[in-house]
Amino acid sequence: MPTSDPRQRILELRDELNRHNHNYYVLNSPEISDREFDSLIKELAELEEKYPDMSDELSPTRRVGSDLTDGFEQIAHIYPMLSLSNTYSIEEVDEWFARVRSGLGGEKFEITGEMKYDGTSISLIYEHGKLIRAVTRGDGEKGDIVTENVKTIKSIPLKLQGSGWPDLFEIRGEILMPWEAFERLNKEREFNEEPLFANPRNAASGTLKMLNSREVAKRGLDAYFYYLLGPELPYDNHFDNMMAAREWGFKVSEIMTLLTSIEKVDEFISHWDSARRELPVATDGLVFKVNNLRQQLNLGYTAKSPRWAIAYKFPAEKALTRLRYVSFEVGRMGIITPVANLEPVLLSGTIVKRASLHNEDIIKTLGIHENDLLYVEKGGEIIPKITGVDENGRDADAEPIKFVTRCPACGTPLVRVEGEASWLCPNKFGCPPQIAGRVEHFVGRKMMNIDGIGEETSQQLFASGIVRNIADLYDLTKEKLLTLEGFGQKSADRVLEGLEASRNIPYDRVIYALSIPFVGDTVAKKVAKAFPDIDSLMNATAEELASVKDIGPRIAESIVEYFGNPINREIVARLRNAGLQFSGTDAGESLSDVLAGKTFVISGTFAHHSRDEYKRLIELHGGKNVSSISKKTDYVFAGENMGPAKLEKATNLGIPIIDENTFLEMIGEKN
Ligand code: IVH
Repeated sequence: MPTSDPRQRILELRDELNRHNHNYYVLNSPEISDREFDSLIKELAELEEKYPDMSDELSPTRRVGSDLTDGFEQIAHIYPMLSLSNTYSIEEVDEWFARVRSGLGGEKFEITGEMKYDGTSISLIYEHGKLIRAVTRGDGEKGDIVTENVKTIKSIPLKLQGSGWPDLFEIRGEILMPWEAFERLNKEREFNEEPLFANPRNAASGTLKMLNSREVAKRGLDAYFYYLLGPELPYDNHFDNMMAAREWGFKVSEIMTLLTSIEKVDEFISHWDSARRELPVATDGLVFKVNNLRQQLNLGYTAKSPRWAIAYKFPAEKALTRLRYVSFEVGRMGIITPVANLEPVLLSGTIVKRASLHNEDIIKTLGIHENDLLYVEKGGEIIPKITGVDENGRDADAEPIKFVTRCPACGTPLVRVEGEASWLCPNKFGCPPQIAGRVEHFVGRKMMNIDGIGEETSQQLFASGIVRNIADLYDLTKEKLLTLEGFGQKSADRVLEGLEASRNIPYDRVIYALSIPFVGDTVAKKVAKAFPDIDSLMNATAEELASVKDIGPRIAESIVEYFGNPINREIVARLRNAGLQFSGTDAGESLSDVLAGKTFVISGTFAHHSRDEYKRLIELHGGKNVSSISKKTDYVFAGENMGPAKLEKATNLGIPIIDENTFLEMIGEKN
C-alpha cells in the first residue's frame, strides 16, 4: 500500500523509480511497462511541485535535463586521466605479458580481459553514495564539468544501491552512443540537412558537450564503467572492486573476465575479435589489466600510461560479399554516381547493402566484373568502401561493369565533365531526378527553410506536374496542395506559411538555394558580398567574378553559364516577382548557423534591440521565426510584457522560455 503522507510518498517514489531505472537500463530486465513508469514519474513530478521543500537535485524527475546555456567550468582531476599504450597483434600482447611477469619478479599474477569501449571517457565523483560531479577527460589533467548532462544518462546511478561504498570515490568509464541511437540520430540529422556524425564516438562526445541537457536527454546515451579509484576501496583487486561497483548500480560489462595464463589471454582475443560485432555499442579493441592493486602499484607508470595495462586494437573490419548489380544515380547537378548494390553483410555492427563507387575510374581501377566477390571496409567504421575484388570468386563468363552511356532517368546521352572522372546528364531542365533534387535543395533548412516539403513531397510535386521548377513553388495554392496524396488542411497551411516566411530569407541564402554548380553556402556568401544585388551578379563577367577572393575560374565560369541560360533568367525573374530577397549587404556579415534548425516565437518588448531587429538576428544566425507556439517551437524568446496566453501555452508544452541576455549569449553577442 502506498503511504498517504505525501512527503513520505515522494521518498518512496524516488526509491522505486531509481530501482526501475536500474532494472531497465543496467540489468535490461524491466519489471513494469513504460506506461506504468511514466505514470509514477508523473505522480512524483506533481508531488514535487506541490512540496518544493522536498526538492532534490538527484530526483529521478531531474533526468530530463534543463536548458542552461552557459559553457562548462573546468576542474583538475584528482588522479590524472592517462591513456593506454596500444598494441596491434597477439604477439605484442604476449610481449607485454612477459614484461609484466619479469616486472613482478616471477610472482604469480592474474589479468582481467575487458572490452575497449569506443566512446568518450568520463570520471564520476561520488560522496556519501551520491553523484556529485562528472568530468570529461579534457587534457588528462583537467576536464569540463558536465554533471547536468551526465545526469540525463539513465544507466548512471545518481544515488547508489546496496552498501559498502567508500564515502568518497571516483569511478571511470566510457560514455557511449549505442548503434541504434546513433543511426536514429544520423537519420534525423540527414533529414534536417545537418552534418552527420562519422561514428558513435564523435556522436557521444559531441552530445556530452551540448549546452542544452534537455537535448542530451533525448539522444539515448549509455555508459560502461571500468575503473574504480580512491583511498579506501573495498577490495585489493580490480575485478572484485568492479563487481562491487556493479552491486552499487553501475553498468559493468559482463564481458570482463579473469584470465590466469597467456593462453587464456590469446583465446580471449580470438573470441572477441569477431564476437564483438554482435554488441550493441562500438568497440575498438580489448584492454588487459593486472588484477592485483599492489602489483599494479609495483609495476607503476611510464610518463603517459600505466605499465600494468595494455590495449589491443582490433584490425580494420573487412567483409567479403557478392555484388548484385551496379545502379547509376542522378544527383541534382546531373552527375551520375555508380553505386554497388551488395548481398547484405554485417560490418562493424551495421548491415551494409550499398557502397558508392564514386566514378568510372574507380570501377576500372578495381576491375569490377558482374557478380564479383568484393571486399568492403568501413572508413571510420561508418561509410562503407569497396577496397578490392576477390578474383578467385569470379564467374568464368563475367563481363566487366560498363558505365552507362545514357542517363538512367531520362535517356539523354551523357557527357564527360571536363578534367574529371565524372559523367553528367546535360538535360538539366527535363531530367526528373535533377529537377526534384533542385526543389529539394531549394526548400532545405539551410536554404529557403520551407517546412513541410521534403524529399518525398518534392518528388510528388514534380510527378504530379504541379512543380516543374523552383519558381513554380510560389504559385502553389491550397487547392493545388490538397490534390496531393497525404496532404490535409494542416500540412498545406504549413507549406504556404513556409513559403511566405521564405520571402525574408537573405540574399546569399537565395543564391545558395538556386543550385548553381560549384556554389555552396560559403561561395554564395562571398558572391553576395561582392555583388550586392542580383542584377550586378547576373551581368558580371567571368573575369569580374574571378577577381573576388577565393572564387576561382571554374566557379566563375559556372556562374556565368548559369545566368547565361534564358530558362534560369526566367526562373530568377519569377522568384523576384514572388518577393524573394535579391539584394542586401548583410550577407557575409556576422552570419553564423548557431541557430540553424531552431524555431523561435518572439514576444514582448526588449531593451537592447527592437523586436524586428531580433527577428533579423534570428534569421542571420540561421534560425527561423514563427508566429504561434506549437510543439515544434524550440524557444520562446520573451521580452517585457509578454502575453499571458503565450506564456501559459509555452509552459504547458514545456518549451524553454529564454530572455534577452540568454539569447544574446546564444548568438555570442554578450561579452
Ligand atoms: S582503463 C589508466 N578500460 O581507452 C587506465 N580504458 O586509451 C585507464 N577505454 O581513456 C583506462 N574501454 O576512454 C580502460 N575497459 C577499459 C576501457 C578503457 C575503453 C578507453 C578510455 C581511456 C582509453 C585509453
